[in-house]
Amino acid sequence: MSAFTYRGGILHAETVPLDRLAAECGTPCWVYSSAALERRYLDFAAAFAGLNATICYALKANGNQAVIATLARLGAGADIVSEGELRRALAAGVPATKIVFAGVGKTAAEMAAALDAGILQFNVESESELRQLSALAASRDRRAPVALRINPDVDARTHAKITTGKSENKFGIDIARAEEVARLAAGLPGIDLKGIAVHIGSQLAEIDPFRDAFARAADVARRLIAQGHRLARLDFGGGLGVPYRGEALTGGNNVADAAPGLADYVAAVRAALRDLDVQLVLEPGRYLVAEAGILLARVIYMKDGRAKRFAIVDAAMNDLLRPALYEAYHPIRPVIEPEPDTAPLLTDVVGPVCETGDVIAVDRTLPPLKDGDLIAIFMAGAYGSVMSSTYNARPLAPEIMVKDDRFEIVRPRQTYDQLIGLDRLPQWLEETVAGPVRRVRR
Ligand code: LLP
Repeated sequence: MSAFTYRGGILHAETVPLDRLAAECGTPCWVYSSAALERRYLDFAAAFAGLNATICYALKANGNQAVIATLARLGAGADIVSEGELRRALAAGVPATKIVFAGVGKTAAEMAAALDAGILQFNVESESELRQLSALAASRDRRAPVALRINPDVDARTHAKITTGKSENKFGIDIARAEEVARLAAGLPGIDLKGIAVHIGSQLAEIDPFRDAFARAADVARRLIAQGHRLARLDFGGGLGVPYRGEALTGGNNVADAAPGLADYVAAVRAALRDLDVQLVLEPGRYLVAEAGILLARVIYMKDGRAKRFAIVDAAMNDLLRPALYEAYHPIRPVIEPEPDTAPLLTDVVGPVCETGDVIAVDRTLPPLKDGDLIAIFMAGAYGSVMSSTYNARPLAPEIMVKDDRFEIVRPRQTYDQLIGLDRLPQWLEETVAGPVRRVRR
């Protein structure tokens, strides 16, 4: 059941009415349900019970401290891709021993920070990275725990911008070269080869690509073990899709999504592991947080163009980039429940940003909206706030977490002073410009 439901004609987050929340916190704002986060994590963890699995939440999906801490308290580790994410994970209480570091372009400084923190594993994606990491670890008299991320050349059949497992993608080590690179790793003084990792993309709608990729990764592991490598871990990445057009959210009038079930996903993992007695690492992001968040926005103006009806709202592409970048679909519902017999209207929901691409929803069947109405944009907990920018000098929207009938601002709205205050004037302009920037010295 969704954490965002109508109660007495008003959309609530858990038991907090969203009109009250908007009045107190302003719009646009992100609203997260801690019950939804907990339920998703516990369901996911329960599905892998008995498999010696470490669930490393991919915190690129939502890096708010309150979100990470909610999951960490339940036992989640973290999948990180930068020093910033390392710091976010540690600050939220994720033990270093449950952190895996992924990414094709880890810098020496980032790897050094992760080595010093004592993380569980580096997922290495190239020989250059392997050599660099070895040198850094050896200079500390250490051996870095490494999984080789292989590129299995499997088509994830997801959006082209988030597919990663084909040979033409920049990710991973060509599967055909895995044994050669493993030999190199075994000979390097600062490397402790611990496992194989694979991640073929995000928002996968089918199980078959997972099945293929897991089987290929497991086969590589078996071959390496037979050659004498002491592998202790298999990391099967993230990528499990969620139903963005799910029935519960849209009232059943939309085509059903083809999101795979958790049970089928676990079956694919089990089938690949078979005889392998290794620790399993999983890196789910979207699956854990997408449905736990909405973006709450207000209609500024309704506008009837010659060809289209527009709802111009106070959230824009700088807040939620996914529709503009991936033509992503996010369900939308008004906060005040429409009467059952209201005839819907075809509406484009757009932001105030000066680009035609600034869309939240195109040709959407929605109840009639009017100036000042509140709307909730669903499935915005993953890759929502984290992908925001301040384009058009629009401050970052606040993040709010709800628990039962309580809510707290877990990141305040960015102020205009903060927005402008990072800039500095070069000295040659300081004498001539008035205003707050002038006073800020290097
Ligand atoms: N592990 C690795 C190595 C990854 O690159 C990713 C996501 C994940 C795990 C988590 O994947 P998930 O379970 O969330 O699918 N901004 C895009 C999604 C980019 C995903 C990048 N990598 C979007 O809004 O759809």
